[in-house]
Amino acid sequence: MSLYAIGDLHLHFQCELKSEVQLFDPLWKGHEEKFRENCARMIKDDDTLVLVGDHSWGKDLSQCEKDFDYIRALPGKKILTRGNHDMFWDAGKTKKLNEKFAPQLNFLQDGYEVYGEYALIASKGYTFEGPYYLDRKGRIIGWDEEKEAHAAKLVEREAGRLIRSFEAARADGYKKFIMFLHYPPTNIMESESIFTQLAEQYDVDQVIYAHCHGAKRFHDSIQGQFNGREYSLVSGDYLNWVPKKIMD
Ligand SMILES: [Fe+2]
Ligand SMILES: [Fe+2]
Repeated sequence: MSLYAIGDLHLHFQCELKSEVQLFDPLWKGHEEKFRENCARMIKDDDTLVLVGDHSWGKDLSQCEKDFDYIRALPGKKILTRGNHDMFWDAGKTKKLNEKFAPQLNFLQDGYEVYGEYALIASKGYTFEGPYYLDRKGRIIGWDEEKEAHAAKLVEREAGRLIRSFEAARADGYKKFIMFLHYPPTNIMESESIFTQLAEQYDVDQVIYAHCHGAKRFHDSIQGQFNGREYSLVSGDYLNWVPKKIMD
């Protein structure tokens, strides 16, 4: 039994593709088939695969059906977390999504899933992504403060969701955690954040995140060991569509 993760599939079997990177970057050529083959080779029926947001470009559920068919046909238990492009997913109606797609797809938001002795906790997360103002040498000399203030509110909301989920799992007796964020835990100016603090406060073993795709963004945030926890970027193109094994 193993736990795997990957993010940013950005499927578009029945909707318009809105990403130039995805159209022209060779890493994205035939990514659906590459990922399907890697999953078939690596993932067994008793394994769990966490898909860390940005599943589909579809604007609503009717534009995502074929994308969900594709995900459903992958091996293992599938847990989906919420990304910024998942327009089909109304945060307040996660229960309905779970009812509609049970038992093959599990949508995780405000709550937790279980893997062995671990509680898997997930939120979209959030982080300020600019615009930044640069000098001639490319150094950051300022940023859009209004947008940063708005981002701070969204960060607070998502942190609140995580806290409630950790507390629910704790109340049910769970002491070991893995935290999944769609956005990176820190922005390019930060060395820590409320998300790294929560990881420490709840003694999370691993923090898994996605969202940073396109080679320029692969090193936007923390990777490897930081204050005693392991941080991993699992965006699909970063992993070349090989799901990352998180633990046995
Ligand atoms: Fe994405
Ligand atoms: Fe994203």
